[in-house]
Amino acid sequence: MTISISLTVNGAPVSASIDPGTLLVQFLRDQLRLTGTHIGCDTAQCGACTVHLNGRAIKSCNILAAQADGAQVTTIEGLAHNGTLHPMQAAFKHCHGLQCGFCTPGMVMSAVSLVQRQPDLTGDDVRAQLDGNLCRCTGYHNIVKAVLEGAEGMKSCGANAGTNAGINAGSHAGAATAPAA
Ligand code: FES
Ligand code: FES
Repeated sequence: MTISISLTVNGAPVSASIDPGTLLVQFLRDQLRLTGTHIGCDTAQCGACTVHLNGRAIKSCNILAAQADGAQVTTIEGLAHNGTLHPMQAAFKHCHGLQCGFCTPGMVMSAVSLVQRQPDLTGDDVRAQLDGNLCRCTGYHNIVKAVLEGAEGMKSCGANAGTNAGINAGSHAGAATAPAA
């Protein structure tokens, strides 16, 4: 048996027939080939699969694709705008907030959602609020730096409006010109 779903993914309408048991992360990766969303644990522990569902960060291994019927989904592939990195992506690059990069898409998606909810953050806030995203490489220090820098970048280009549209609402002009470390 299959069911039909229709949703918006990274701003584009998508309709598909799926097995009712398909997880959202499987749908994104296997059917839409959006493989930037990673699978680390498959048990809602690591955060590697984080995407935005109607503007909020969720672990896409933890819900069925059918539950996203009618929703707006944004993946890491939907953050950059006309080839310009989102300020949070640029900050992770600038601050070396990654090593192997496996956790990075989920970490960035969680960080963007966090800043949209809470634009003024301390390092302790970042550590506490992103505790659902695990990184086995970095020791987190540069990730925290990146999220704080990304929060400032989002403020200056207006990308912290709190909606999917808001993610790409700003020009991101400053993000592209972040100096190399
Ligand atoms: Fe979803 Fe780990 S793969 S939380
Ligand atoms: Fe390797 Fe985070 S950079 S898991």
